[in-house]
Amino acid sequence: PRKIIIDTDPGQDDAVAILLALASPDELDVLGITAVAGNVPLSLTQKNSRIVCELANKPHVKVFAGCDVPLKRKLVTAEHVHGKTGLDGPTLPDPTMALQDAHAVEFIINTLRNEPADSVTLCPLGPLTNIATALQTAPDIVSRIREIVLMGGAYFQVGNITPAAEFNIYVDPEAAEIVFKSGIPLTVLPLDVTHKALVTKPRNEAFRALGSHVGHAVAEMTEFFERFDKEKYGSEGAPLHDPCVTAYLIQPDLFTGRHINVEIETQGTFTQGMTVADWWGVSGRDPNSLFIGDINADGFFDLLTERLGRL
Ligand code: BDR
Ligand code: CA
Repeated sequence: PRKIIIDTDPGQDDAVAILLALASPDELDVLGITAVAGNVPLSLTQKNSRIVCELANKPHVKVFAGCDVPLKRKLVTAEHVHGKTGLDGPTLPDPTMALQDAHAVEFIINTLRNEPADSVTLCPLGPLTNIATALQTAPDIVSRIREIVLMGGAYFQVGNITPAAEFNIYVDPEAAEIVFKSGIPLTVLPLDVTHKALVTKPRNEAFRALGSHVGHAVAEMTEFFERFDKEKYGSEGAPLHDPCVTAYLIQPDLFTGRHINVEIETQGTFTQGMTVADWWGVSGRDPNSLFIGDINADGFFDLLTERLGRL
């Protein structure tokens, strides 16, 4: 299995992404989960990460708390989407598993130094603060990372937190800039693809029909998450953003994209946090990422439902 570190700000969709990974041990070896401030403050994202591990019945997974504020800005959160706890929807018990003592950034650095070079993939599902801090603190790890596969950004679909910017990039654009300029192989799952992964009613019912604790909890999470998108975008179901990352790692042939240049806007008055994605190759700048544009949504939900059924 491929070794991964999931860097996350749960978030209902983060939770589903984590469940999918933990349900897929043949493909993915989750070395640890690192929490970052994003959808809700760090005190809640680290707690929610542990709630999700216990929901999956995997309390041995290591969870670390990371950065509680973006590199240079005040934290912007998204309770309007995810609710006050970040995991509103199901009623889940407080976690009993411990939080690890080490800081998330220290864990990321030590893991990359100790594991064979090119064997560890980073999977950021929230603002890129932990990842950028690790790259800045320990530049020697840059060449040891196999790949970064992240959820963030947008091109034709543009923004969800401002007209120009997607939430994860907007919250910490300076961190995103460090990651996109790092030269590390990058695969990006932007809003353009995640808004094609919609939890329609039959897909939601399929989660519930699993008849399990996990199936039920996921159905309730996606129902909660959907309220916002229905009102806001008239969407026929919640876009399952972050699970696109873990699904991509398990079954990449569900997705297609292009190698393009992406720069992060950190200055613009109206465009801070925008991913300036050169889809048509007009800039002459070298490609720095595989930007995913399409998904086989039925295949994705088949995979997800089948895997959740294993938990
Ligand atoms: C991203 O922002 C968060 O609200 C979601 O968890 C996802 O990672 C979508 O823009
Ligand atoms: Ca997230």
